Amino acid sequence: MGAMTIIGTGSYAPGVPIPNAALARVMDTNDAWIRQRTGIEQRHFARDGETVSELGAHAARRALRSAGITAAEVDYIVFGTMTPEYAFPGPGGLLGAKLGIEGVPALDLRQQCASAPFGLQVANGLLASDAARTVLFVCAEAHAGFMPWRDWDVVRGESTREVAEEDYARATRHRGVAILFGDGASAMVLRHTTRDGAGFLGAECHSDGARADLMYMPGGGFTRLPFFSLDVIEFELCYPQMRGPELFKSAVTELAGVVRSLCARHHVALDEIDCVVAHQANDRINSAVRKALGLPPEKVPSNIARYGNTSSATVGILLDELRADGRVKEGDLICVVALGAGLHWGAALLRL
Ligand code: UT7
Repeated sequence: MGAMTIIGTGSYAPGVPIPNAALARVMDTNDAWIRQRTGIEQRHFARDGETVSELGAHAARRALRSAGITAAEVDYIVFGTMTPEYAFPGPGGLLGAKLGIEGVPALDLRQQCASAPFGLQVANGLLASDAARTVLFVCAEAHAGFMPWRDWDVVRGESTREVAEEDYARATRHRGVAILFGDGASAMVLRHTTRDGAGFLGAECHSDGARADLMYMPGGGFTRLPFFSLDVIEFELCYPQMRGPELFKSAVTELAGVVRSLCARHHVALDEIDCVVAHQANDRINSAVRKALGLPPEKVPSNIARYGNTSSATVGILLDELRADGRVKEGDLICVVALGAGLHWGAALLRL
């Protein structure tokens, strides 16, 4: 039967890039701080009404084209996002309808920034159990909706008007999150290969709800009666809460640990890995992980400067770029690794 392999990738980012300096117009931050602490220089933001199933459809069409197949050949959709267009239903089925493949099963993942290793593990299970022959794995995010400002005209440079003092103060209270995230989508087409030695070696995934408070969205969940009220806005529960430095430490420890553990389980020496395709949350996290694993910089590529943290989509966008410019190629052993709110984290090994 062979092992699962990636036969196509695609990615998409909405609109024009928004540089760090644009964020400094609506809150107390600056380009130098953002670059030094994160490596981010710009990000993209979805427009009002631009949803993850729409962003995902752009990436999916590109991935299908790169795989040389049509949507009609997809028999399972797996969709990862933490910013779905509705509390329910999830975006997977909506994506299927946009691609004209209504009726194809769609599974929505809730693993946030850790969607890539979880999604690959699930897709491998679907293929191995013969539930599917061609899995379309899409990740997309529209974080723009939880940005803590209303002054989109100022952020986008369409107006130079003054921002109200209370709006500036609110955005500044949430600046730690606001500077990190950007919008985008990625897609992978997954199938079994008959090529000798190629394909998925395995994945290791973990979850720890005891650390859910390191990053979560307090409002909009079905905790309160009624589940949504003006309190959600008044008490600023519609913005994620993040304990940044603690999350940073968890990320460095768990990401390095899961790569080591997965490699040991599959008898792969760390220096056999050609490329670590790591979640792009912060360049400083990835450089600490890289040092802990003793890997050279060229084996842990980064594109966070151009996209910020696109949560579930970072790994797929980066992989798409690496395939397109030849930094990864057939025969390379790649290790996907990611950690996200939940906490959820994991790694996957795959020979392209
Ligand atoms: O995808 C998974 C989810 N996210 C992550 O993995 C993120 C993990 N955490 C991080 O990447 C980092 O913790 C941050 C980038 C969020 C923050 O960097 P940090 O080096 O941990 O900074 P900090 O929160 O300890 O803040 C340092 C200083 C503070 O000022 P004082 O108290 O030292 O005077 C902050 O108020 O930097 C200040 N600060 C800012 N200044 C300008 C915090 N955010 C900003 C900002 N602009 N945006």
